[in-house]
Amino acid sequence: MSTVHDKLRLLKEKNAHVLLGGGAQKIEAQHKAGKMTAHERLHLLFDNGFYDELYRHAQHAATTLGMGGRDLPGDGVVTGLGAINGRLVYASSQDFTVMGGSVGLMHAWKICEIMEMALKAGAPYIAVNDSGGARIQEAVDSLQGYGKIFYHNTLLSGVVPQISIIAGPCAGGAAYSPALMDFIIMVEGTGQMFIAGPEVIKEATGESITAEELGGAGAQAARSGNVHFIARDDADAIEIAQRLLGYLPNNNTEDPPSLHTGELTLIEDEPLNSVVPDDPRDPYNMLDILQRVFDPHSLLEVHSHYAQNMIVSFARLNGRVVGIVANQPAVKFGAIDINASDKASRFIRFCNAFNIPLIQFVDVPGFMPGVEQEFGGIIRHGAKMLFSFSAATVPKITVVVRKAYGGAYLAMCAKALGADRVAAWPTAEIAVMGAEGAVNVLYRTEIKNAPDPREARTTFIRQYKEEFSTPYQAAKRGMVDAVIEPKNTRNYISIALESLRNKRDLRPQKKHGLIPL
Ligand code: HXC
Repeated sequence: MSTVHDKLRLLKEKNAHVLLGGGAQKIEAQHKAGKMTAHERLHLLFDNGFYDELYRHAQHAATTLGMGGRDLPGDGVVTGLGAINGRLVYASSQDFTVMGGSVGLMHAWKICEIMEMALKAGAPYIAVNDSGGARIQEAVDSLQGYGKIFYHNTLLSGVVPQISIIAGPCAGGAAYSPALMDFIIMVEGTGQMFIAGPEVIKEATGESITAEELGGAGAQAARSGNVHFIARDDADAIEIAQRLLGYLPNNNTEDPPSLHTGELTLIEDEPLNSVVPDDPRDPYNMLDILQRVFDPHSLLEVHSHYAQNMIVSFARLNGRVVGIVANQPAVKFGAIDINASDKASRFIRFCNAFNIPLIQFVDVPGFMPGVEQEFGGIIRHGAKMLFSFSAATVPKITVVVRKAYGGAYLAMCAKALGADRVAAWPTAEIAVMGAEGAVNVLYRTEIKNAPDPREARTTFIRQYKEEFSTPYQAAKRGMVDAVIEPKNTRNYISIALESLRNKRDLRPQKKHGLIPL
């Protein structure tokens, strides 16, 4: 009969065995590949390196294709909970050293359990992905496991924040779990995601591409827009996740963490008065404005490599978290194209779901013209912005910096879409369209019949600009609350936000709206 001492020793041995994952050799290979192990990642993620591991001794029950009796510690995934900056967070971390972190039924069950716990506790969920995908030996059981993960990702969506770190392979259908989450952080060099890899593509379409070119962080952040943040290595990815969490509430019933001291820091920032160039065709960097207006070093740009004509960013104002949606005139003149619409809409909906006020900075000449844009569905994609802003019930404050033309202005949250405050700088040009286009329609005959048509056109454009390309037509009709000096922008937004702290905007009950996807 074994003694208590024996039983304790057995527990210690079992724990030590599981903690070694796939064994010393596999761990060495993992390190050689520039990757941390699943445990090392969680150790770094949680405060003081402490996490409460759950289901450590779980094992698969598969018997086919050589699986019978095969020892897979933790079934290739570590799951647990811990604190990040003192706040409860649940996490899963796939263990590549155990059968390539492949997903079998138990592996998937462990992930789903931890997600359900996060949902019940109203706490964020972080998933570290490093896996060869569906465990081929477990066949349809593995498929069922993935389906359950996707189902749970959807249950959590809009209730608790979900962050995915891709720190290894994440290919095929496996990529859909991160895609269903709110933010993807990918590690440069080791993280990869694609539906079909280079070999399948070569066979199907004849195209040649490397796995890194196809699924690496650069491509997936800048071209597909799947990835929100690029990390230099595992440690950097974890740091980004920790920083990002600092802007997010625990769940949809709470406000984001506040650093507000009870006082507003009001500043008249003189240099802002000269940021916008005299020539309205000249670009400037919208980020220069945002950095001056919001709390120092508080901007956390999301999707910064993608659709750079649109900026979306978290920031703090007087210590309180806000979400910024801004046109970037330095890229494509700030015109809104398909990708910019998708990028902005997704961010607007995230902020609305998690009680983060939205602040817009507008300098938009219009939706991007072009056959490719039209055939790509710019109407449907642009409509997502109109829908998202109209549906958002968080405080919405819009600042018109320069151009604000036509439907694109509405799409940046004009008064008509429920903006609570709209302020315009004196440089604002709020109009149905640009002066050149308007004059061509309004004065076609007069220009044609003039002794000097070019001069006549120039005169008409100047006259139109003076009268209509200003903030005052819109201000006259109550579409603009105030025309402000740029230097007072922080003060205007600060006071507006304070006055909207208890905003209530109740809408008719419905199952859900039908955003044009
Ligand atoms: C079972 C797997 C596995 C998998 C890797 N392994 N992927 N075992 N099922 N999907 C095992 C390997 O056999 C190996 O076992 C160990 O994990 C490490 O893998 P290596 O190949 O040695 O590592 P590496 O060279 O780094 O290559 C990693 C890899 C490669 C690129 C991920 O392993 C690979 O291509 N794996 C198969 C990928 C795949 O086809 N997955 C299924 C996709 S279908 P040993 O014993 O030698 O250490 C899918 C459908 C999901 O995912 C649908 C959901 C909707």
